[in-house]
Amino acid sequence: DWNAEHIIEELIGGVRAQVEGGRVLLAISGGVDSSTLGLLLSRAIGDRLTAVFIDHGLLRLGEREQVEAALRPLGVNLVTVDAREEFLGALAGVSDPEQKRKIIGREFIRAFEREARKYGPFDFLAQGTLYPDVIESAGGEGAANIKSHHNVGGLPEDLAFKLVEPFRTLFKDEVREIARLLGLPDHIRMRHPFPGPGLAIRCLGEVTPEKLDILKRVDDIFISGLREFGLYDGCSQALAVLTPIQSVGVMGDERTYSYTTALRAVTTDDFMTAEWARLPYDFLATMSNRIVNQVHEINRVVYDITGKPPATIEWE
Ligand code: XMP
Repeated sequence: DWNAEHIIEELIGGVRAQVEGGRVLLAISGGVDSSTLGLLLSRAIGDRLTAVFIDHGLLRLGEREQVEAALRPLGVNLVTVDAREEFLGALAGVSDPEQKRKIIGREFIRAFEREARKYGPFDFLAQGTLYPDVIESAGGEGAANIKSHHNVGGLPEDLAFKLVEPFRTLFKDEVREIARLLGLPDHIRMRHPFPGPGLAIRCLGEVTPEKLDILKRVDDIFISGLREFGLYDGCSQALAVLTPIQSVGVMGDERTYSYTTALRAVTTDDFMTAEWARLPYDFLATMSNRIVNQVHEINRVVYDITGKPPATIEWE
């Protein structure tokens, strides 16, 4: 019988035994796994943990503040780094999706290594690897080849740290249960997965600060709307895409020529295949009205009704 309180005590004991008096570095992504790991490690070793959250400017509205507000009061020694200019500078003029992923991966490692030197030396690198990740990398093929998945977990081997991976035997639901007992707020604990490259792969083509700003506001309306209407937990993932399409519309008695946004929501067990979520028409109507009223750069809203396959969940 699986007992979360008992597991927490065991994991804490295991970490203390492995780390002894050493110092541990952890990259926080804002998702449930790394946040929960931050809480667990802080319980186990206090300020010998340094958790680093890199704000690459590709996050959702208010995300950095939410992570800070969730983890700092619970005692996590959290450093947040504003790296927005570096990332956006490196992405300027780049429109190829794979190229964008590679640049973000490279910039992430660069920024993380810099922080590691600043706050180090460290003896260990902690990662929120789960049991399914262990299995998947043992299998080593499949969907991973379709897109080069950049993830904050994917650090280079030459970072000469020993790894601390207390969640290697756990499933996501178990991590969520541990998170609950450790006091992680529900909005992070039950959050949909969010890709490492963030909004960059939802801002089709070249990423500019202006486009990101539009996308953040659309995304916030959609995700807040899903929560408000009680639909969030019924979807596995939901997102807004800013397309490069501009089309003609009318506003008052003015002609407009503005962007199209696509909303996407899916249900899935494993993210390898997915169905588009049958969201209620009234909800979609409300979202469409809110978006065009509040985000003047948008004059057309479409809903993606494609499964995976043949589409992927993200548009890039
Ligand atoms: P696709 O678009 O391939 O996405 O159907 C499947 C799941 O993976 C996420 N995803 C990523 N996660 N780095 C990540 O950490 C990435 O580069 C990346 N690309 C896709 C996607 O959000 C979905 O949950």
